[in-house]
Amino acid sequence: MRRSPSSYRSLCARTLSEKVSKYMKSDMYSKHAEKYDLAVQDNIYNAHLERPSLQAMLDDLSGLNVLDLGCGTGIYAEFLIEQGAAEITCLDASQQMIEIVNSKFADRVSAYPQDLSTGLPREKSNSADVIICPLVVHYIEDLSALFKEVNRVLKAGGYIVFSTHHPFADFECSRSGNYFERELVNEVWDTVGEPVEVVFYRRSLTEIMDALTTNGLAVTQLSEGRVSDKVQEISMERYDYLSNNPNFIFIKCQKLS
Ligand SMILES: C[S@@+](CC[C@H](N)C(=O)[O-])C[C@H]1O[C@@H](n2cnc3c(N)ncnc32)[C@H](O)[C@@H]1O
Repeated sequence: MRRSPSSYRSLCARTLSEKVSKYMKSDMYSKHAEKYDLAVQDNIYNAHLERPSLQAMLDDLSGLNVLDLGCGTGIYAEFLIEQGAAEITCLDASQQMIEIVNSKFADRVSAYPQDLSTGLPREKSNSADVIICPLVVHYIEDLSALFKEVNRVLKAGGYIVFSTHHPFADFECSRSGNYFERELVNEVWDTVGEPVEVVFYRRSLTEIMDALTTNGLAVTQLSEGRVSDKVQEISMERYDYLSNNPNFIFIKCQKLS
């Protein structure tokens, strides 16, 4: 077992050597979409670590066109509405996630199913002021292709903020022992209150940075997140763990050209 037993991820099971289908459909985000929606409202990893850390990297969003890639059940959409974004577009590979977003915010956001590994074909070039992509890129094999699309869709001077698993934390799950080799990892998480298998890519920081910089995206800010003090009231053990160990990484990049 690595890390403390968590609501976000719990057990490093094994690393898969074989490839899986382009969109790694996970029960977590299809079969358990409703439970996932409830779980992330107030849990430690999403509500008290990931969201406050990513949201702190966003500038004033009022009047802007914002794209939410891998929107899940729309927890960020709700935040974007509160922040006064003018146009909000939510994409997710899971039809179940999109249905939940539409049931909550159909009048305020445009949401549609899209596998990000096949790009952003319905999004116009130079159309988004801001793109957010929280906790999704570890499900995408070819990050360079995704960031090429992000560059195309961003307006000049626009920016993306995304979060993903911290490469050093994920290295604990490596079977190859080679940090620099991309690996498909299979873990069992208890996010939704029962064990659910999740498959994602573990990759080096170099691979992430290369995918950005070769696609005209300049890193303007990098954060390793900060667990909120409120977690002390929920679990002192978890608070201590997350105060001393990296779990996620947060990167903000501006479109160069
Ligand atoms: C950890 S959840 C994050 C959801 C949301 N961003 C949040 O922070 O609550 C990951 C999301 O990525 C979506 N996803 C996974 N692979 C995807 C892909 N290839 N294209 C689009 N969405 C994908 C899942 O369906 C799921 O909703």
